[in-house]
Amino acid sequence: MRIAVVGGTGTAGSRVAALAEEQGHEVVLLTRSTGTNLVTGAGVADALDGAHVAIDASSPTPPDESMSRFDAVVRSARNLAHACVEAGVRRIVVLSIANIEKPDFDSITYYVAKRDQEETTRDSGLEVSVVRSAQWFEFAERSSAVAYADDRVTVQDWYVQPVAVSAVAAVLVREAERRKARDVTIAGPEALRLPDLVRRLLAARHDHRPVVVVEPPARGFGNGALLAPAGAEIVGPDAAGWLAGEAASGE
Ligand SMILES: NC(=O)c1ccc[n+]([C@@H]2O[C@H](COP(=O)([O-])OP(=O)(O)OC[C@H]3O[C@@H](n4cnc5c(N)ncnc54)[C@H](OP(=O)(O)O)[C@@H]3O)[C@@H](O)[C@H]2O)c1
Repeated sequence: MRIAVVGGTGTAGSRVAALAEEQGHEVVLLTRSTGTNLVTGAGVADALDGAHVAIDASSPTPPDESMSRFDAVVRSARNLAHACVEAGVRRIVVLSIANIEKPDFDSITYYVAKRDQEETTRDSGLEVSVVRSAQWFEFAERSSAVAYADDRVTVQDWYVQPVAVSAVAAVLVREAERRKARDVTIAGPEALRLPDLVRRLLAARHDHRPVVVVEPPARGFGNGALLAPAGAEIVGPDAAGWLAGEAASGE
């Protein structure tokens, strides 16, 4: 198949693109660096020309301070769905986040934008598959919940059931290849507190900075609302496996 990987240079998208190519698909990347802009819609339909499936692993950045991240996500979803229809793409696989529908997260603008992205895509008339992922182990390395400073690492006390981003990529490609579109929720095998995961990651890298634990922006992040919901597909590795493999490469 010809697969359009939207956000194909990002943390998830680059793994999706590499795996899809490895599995013999023709891959086209849609990012600003390859000349498409989801927020304005520029170049998107042209880049999708001839694609059978689009996998949306983007994380749209607002062009400047006049636009919120919320608007960037919402506008990008509309532009992408519209361009897929225009270009004759049959299916879109959207990467979303597990549990965002819960009222615990009504005050979290980014999650509300992701709900809107899911809805817009479902309303497009395309075959839609939403892959809702739990937080990634890579969240411990780079995320809004973890701040690395010279003398400390400040970590919000999230309670998560992390999945490796490489496993997320494998599920996205699998769903793109599937005969019939469906929704999937995925999570890792173990529930962990994010500060503990960061401590283990630092120890694996012989990094002696102390971890300072702070409250998350909503209670739902710490009270179990982010753990795997009923019916979620559980995909490895566990924390020990991830730390032994991917994290060690960051030494
Ligand atoms: N982190 C987690 O634990 C987690 C869990 C579940 C789901 N997710 C979801 O996973 C998705 C991907 O996240 P990520 O961390 O992999 O993202 P990322 O590393 O920040 O990558 C973002 C990608 O989007 C592209 N992009 C940004 N603005 C764009 C624009 N205006 N037009 C076109 N392309 C644009 C970037 O390329 P350019 O900069 O070249 O444009 C890049 O390829 C997000 O939707 C997020 O909600 C994340």
